[in-house]
Amino acid sequence: MEKKLVQEMNAQITKEFYSAYLYLSMVAYFDKESLDGCSHWMKMQAQEELIHGMKIFNYLSEIGTPITLGPIDKPNLKFSSVEDVFKKTLAHEKKVTASINNLYDLAQKAKDSATVIFLQWFVTEQIEEEKNPTDILAKLKHIGTQPAGILILDKELATRPQPVVATTASA
Ligand code: FEO
Repeated sequence: MEKKLVQEMNAQITKEFYSAYLYLSMVAYFDKESLDGCSHWMKMQAQEELIHGMKIFNYLSEIGTPITLGPIDKPNLKFSSVEDVFKKTLAHEKKVTASINNLYDLAQKAKDSATVIFLQWFVTEQIEEEKNPTDILAKLKHIGTQPAGILILDKELATRPQPVVATTASA
């Protein structure tokens, strides 16, 4: 694999694990607010991020590319409301999308077809990753400041299923 691409693929593992960490900080906020459904939803999101990180880890490992794990930053965001959390989730996912698109460009420029195909999963996944908080923010707009609406949404978010764990790059 081309040198810059190796570096950025490794950096993406760290970014995915940082995402899990960031979402765990949101879980802690929801727990403090006793919003169990929101907390559950965000816990599932954090688990998904670990799966994303492992998917890249497994891919690099399977093709024999050196893996270098970087330090994971401390998540420093503070939260003031459910809407604030999901706005910050969407903003974060937009950054991840830009990072994935950058990886995809690098793989294309390096004519690394296997990595281009591997990254297609992530390009598609990012559509959902941005859609989920966007949909929740739209519902929050309808709810406005009605506490009953927030509690109904909290119940809905409690139903998010457990993500499927990846054991290989293609899983
Ligand atoms: Fe791993 Fe939320 O993107």
